[in-house]
Amino acid sequence: MTDPLLKAEIHCHIEGAAPVSLALAQAEMYRVDISKIVKDGRYVWSDFSEFLLCYDAVASLFRTEADYALLTETYLTELAAANTIYSEIIVSPDHGDRIGLGADAYLAGICDGIHAAREKVGIETRIIVTGERHFGPERVIAAAEYAARAGNSLITGFNMAGDERMGKVADYARAFDIARDAGLGLTIHAGEVCDASSVQDALDLVRPSRIGHGVRSIENQAVVERLVEHSTVLEVCPGSNIALSIYADFGHHPLRDLMAAGVRVCLNSDDPPFFRTSLAQEYETAAAVMGFSEDEINGMTRTAIEAAFVDEETRSRLL
Ligand code: HPA
Ligand code: ZN
Repeated sequence: MTDPLLKAEIHCHIEGAAPVSLALAQAEMYRVDISKIVKDGRYVWSDFSEFLLCYDAVASLFRTEADYALLTETYLTELAAANTIYSEIIVSPDHGDRIGLGADAYLAGICDGIHAAREKVGIETRIIVTGERHFGPERVIAAAEYAARAGNSLITGFNMAGDERMGKVADYARAFDIARDAGLGLTIHAGEVCDASSVQDALDLVRPSRIGHGVRSIENQAVVERLVEHSTVLEVCPGSNIALSIYADFGHHPLRDLMAAGVRVCLNSDDPPFFRTSLAQEYETAAAVMGFSEDEINGMTRTAIEAAFVDEETRSRLL
């Protein structure tokens, strides 16, 4: 039976979407031993730091434009099969540089995958360029400069992912100034591993229209009120938060309380096979485990599209 609910996703990291089977095939092709990071058909890591290392190791298995085209097309095809009409993928030019591919070829491969998926299954996709916080402010600024001058109409947003515990938001504010000046939509990982003060700093210094995760805003009423007042959208990834032990289980996840407080929220998968989830599973869990009604879930999909970094004509076609 096909899943009837239309879906949209605005927070998924492209390397984090690599199915384990694809990582194994890439490792075999490049003769890389990945037995330390894949066991029994699962990615292996035990905490947030190890997860980031595992992510980088999986990323290093994608080495050519064609590899990135295959990864992107594979992910988008799976999303479309679950009735997903819109996707924003988070991409990091640094990962292209690190493997010796270079940012241009990295982006070209991802764009090929997007075009192929659009042809095949009709899914609409945009790209959010991200800097990785644990690579340091210079690299994050370089990512923003790259996004600003790429002249690629699929790149519509800028993000900062990586280790939220590294440095201060102020160290990275210049990157967001560059992206804002270039007309890109802004979002930033905050309030995931760190507490509500990280969201407060992001609101003060970055002024994003969306926050990646942001769930720990719930720990500070004043931060929740600011999110409501500015209609800031939280890209919530419940399965990721449980896998990373931010919360013990779905019963303790604050999505319901955030929504009840008037914060605009939507559902996302983040790094689906790393967290043993998928966008379809996030929707299913929201209904079956977290108790959201079909109307509430459709409302979250609508919020994702309203907050999407996309032109108004495309947005109104999707809504
Ligand atoms: N948080 C921060 N950085 C990331 C994540 C995440 O969940 N996934 C990939 N990079
Ligand atoms: Zn993320």
